[in-house]
Amino acid sequence: MPEPAAKKIILGITGGIAAYKSLSLIRLFKKAGHEVQVVVTKNALQFVTPLTLETLSQNTVYSDSFIRNEPYSVAHISHADWADVVVIAPATANIIGKFANGIADDALSTLLLAMKKPVFLAPAMNVNMYENEAVQRNIAQLKKQGCHIIEPATGDLACGISAKGRMEEPERIFEIVTQFFSQKKKWNGKKAVVTAGPTYEPIDPVRFIGNHSSGLMGFALAEKLAEQGAEVTLITGTTALYATNQAIQRVDVVTAKEMLTQTLHYSKNADLIIMAAAVADYTPKTFASEKIKKKNSDLELILEKTTDILLELGKRKQKKQCLVGFALETENEIENAKQKLQQKNADFIVLNSLKNSGAGFKCATNQVTIFAQNGAIFEGKCKAKTEVAEEILEFIFEQW
Ligand code: CTP
Repeated sequence: MPEPAAKKIILGITGGIAAYKSLSLIRLFKKAGHEVQVVVTKNALQFVTPLTLETLSQNTVYSDSFIRNEPYSVAHISHADWADVVVIAPATANIIGKFANGIADDALSTLLLAMKKPVFLAPAMNVNMYENEAVQRNIAQLKKQGCHIIEPATGDLACGISAKGRMEEPERIFEIVTQFFSQKKKWNGKKAVVTAGPTYEPIDPVRFIGNHSSGLMGFALAEKLAEQGAEVTLITGTTALYATNQAIQRVDVVTAKEMLTQTLHYSKNADLIIMAAAVADYTPKTFASEKIKKKNSDLELILEKTTDILLELGKRKQKKQCLVGFALETENEIENAKQKLQQKNADFIVLNSLKNSGAGFKCATNQVTIFAQNGAIFEGKCKAKTEVAEEILEFIFEQW
């Protein structure tokens, strides 16, 4: 793998005994030619001294959001803009909890909230703390936010037992971060449109018809494409997710009609269009401007068909464009997916079968089969949606 160009790295050190290992990490980054800006928490300074950190990083160390003797700049913002990446090693349960919940009460946690670049965290803590439900929930939340978690290793812990919780070795952290930089930017210079999430079709001011789509698959595809160099427009229905990569332009929509308008608009100049959204096929024919009151009889709603966005995109497809649709099926999966590929003039159809446990709307995992217009078929295994996103993009890249 070629050596990545020099990068600007913020190394966040928090208060754990593994902080001493971060000294080696600074040396590894510096030796590889990267610039390192260390930001420490107050507790980290119980384990390592500013003098050591400054000598190794050849840079001022930041630990306080309210430094009085520096030239004027809003440090957390300027550092967030300056850096290419943030690596928190060791990451205590405290910083993980703060970042997962949007708390900013010192230099490092404030910087993290202002950061729009990739963030790596290398947790280090006692095994019981690591396995604690709250910590696991926070780690899951950070993964959802697009953070890279460098799983702790199993080995001797400071508390005297051997278990999972030990910070990964500096050499391995260095390798993971460096590999990330060396990733081939396969989609460099390409414009991509990805749709994600559900649509909500309003019945009256308080009610709507929706579906269980979380948006995870579409967001994972958008993040991977941006990581691999694409300029991405992410058109999303209502979701609790947010995109972390600066190369992603997010467009929020609610209804199928809004998704149609925005998708057609942004797709005009796109090279790659992925329809991962779960678009409603039907919408209430009329919208009641006042809340519908309960009556003694049944209520009938008349639904009309929405426009099939993928079909419309297929009709307008330009020569340079690659059009990818999804198919969510519960029966005759392969037949239906192949039919959608032809009917909608797509180049690829990604099949999700709800018959596979671990696939579908609400899970963090997915299992897909991809059908290409050229006859190629890819059969994936059940994996995290971020990994599935990588598989999908890899297959499209190879077959297109
Ligand atoms: N799709 C779309 N516009 C719609 C409905 C679906 O663009 N109004 C897209 C989805 O984003 C997906 C593909 O069409 O990429 C297939 O969606 P799916 O729900 O599996 O199939 P439908 O075409 O809606 O057909 P059915 O529900 O009968 O299976």
